[in-house]
Amino acid sequence: MKNIICIYGTRPEAIKMIPVVCELKKNRKAFRTKVILTAQHRGLLDQAMGLFNVSSDYDLNIMKKSQKLEYITTEVLLKIQAILRREKPDMVLVHGDTTTTFAATLASFYEKIPVGHVEAGLRSHDKFNPYPEEINRKLTDAICDLYFVHTVSAGKNLEAENADKNNIVVTGNTVIDSLFMTLKKKRGFKQKALKKIDFSKRLILVTAHRRENWGKPLADICRALKNIKERFKDVEIVYPVHPNPEVKKTVLNILKKVEGVHLTEPLDYVDFVNVMKKSYLVLTDSGGLQEEAPSLGKPVLVLRKVTERPEAVNAGTVKVIGTGRDRIVRETSGLLKDKRAYKKMQKSINPYGDGKAAIRIVKAISRYFKLRDKIVK
Ligand code: UD1
Ligand code: UDP
Repeated sequence: MKNIICIYGTRPEAIKMIPVVCELKKNRKAFRTKVILTAQHRGLLDQAMGLFNVSSDYDLNIMKKSQKLEYITTEVLLKIQAILRREKPDMVLVHGDTTTTFAATLASFYEKIPVGHVEAGLRSHDKFNPYPEEINRKLTDAICDLYFVHTVSAGKNLEAENADKNNIVVTGNTVIDSLFMTLKKKRGFKQKALKKIDFSKRLILVTAHRRENWGKPLADICRALKNIKERFKDVEIVYPVHPNPEVKKTVLNILKKVEGVHLTEPLDYVDFVNVMKKSYLVLTDSGGLQEEAPSLGKPVLVLRKVTERPEAVNAGTVKVIGTGRDRIVRETSGLLKDKRAYKKMQKSINPYGDGKAAIRIVKAISRYFKLRDKIVK
């Protein structure tokens, strides 16, 4: 029997770690599983936790308004340390590239506890894009012991950094596990604002919140959305706005009064997936969406300079277009006007997983600890 502690704190980490927590808990003979929430996000995290009905053992409740990176890092480091000393787990699992991920990994290293990194090996090879995530994930991978990568090419990134090949396991991304689980849930829209959308029109789903896009890039994105809405009468835009005050200020300022642009509160995952299913096109600077949307056959225009997810770009369903206003208007208009160009991008592909990533992760952990006979088949 091994003690595993899963640590996470933001919305995307919760959505992608919950399948792993559920799978570990299924295997009671092999693992005693606990969850520590840093609550780097409060509302967004609770929304995701509520949906999947997963409880936690510790909640550090660290979030404060407009928090700085050094605040998150030091709060998580100090508070996790005390719990790890008490619990003495055999392994800690972290996810992705947030500041929670990095600080929890560092805390585990200080206690000499092995770390498994879910969604390891992503690289944009650009220090400040995304910021601070590229460095968070490199530092995490430099410390951790088991790497769960979503694709073969993420594994190659790790090999190029001299990670031990024997500890790299290609599992697919757990976001596809969550997506498939959610697609089975039949439910109408919960958020009232969504009921106002005219679904006879073509729907563009937008999310944008990244730190490197704060200020002018995000303002340019919003101005481009305004232009697109003015040009295309048969289009509606839905933009669930991230609660970060820095993001809200810019978005509301430019788009609040634009007819046909629906600025909503963050959507719970079922609502969000339902909107994605109904959308014509996705514009985003998010990481997870670059994996989910191609799975649903939705073309994605990525509002970033670079991506760490080249597979869907190579398959032609995702295009990286940056944050310049003219380019966003041009590329989006192209897809709205040119049916052939749209059809070329509208392929349903799953380079990032088949919905069984969590099962593979738990099997890999059981191999690591030589517990294979105790795993539920
Ligand atoms: C964080 C991650 C980013 C991830 C994103 C997912 C870091 C450095 N960034 O960015 O990698 O893509 O989460 O959403 O780890 N806030 C609320 N309620 C919430 C969540 C946030 O009010 O539920 C507000 C708070 O004022 C908070 C601010 O947003 O201070 C910023 O949150 P933070 O976690 O620092 O950064 P994100 O931009 O959300
Ligand atoms: N998401 C959600 N509701 C929203 C916006 C996003 O449930 O209103 C989901 C989305 O499907 C994806 C994840 O949240 O799985 C992405 O989170 P976020 O954009 O916060 O982080 P990122 O992917 O940029 O790290």
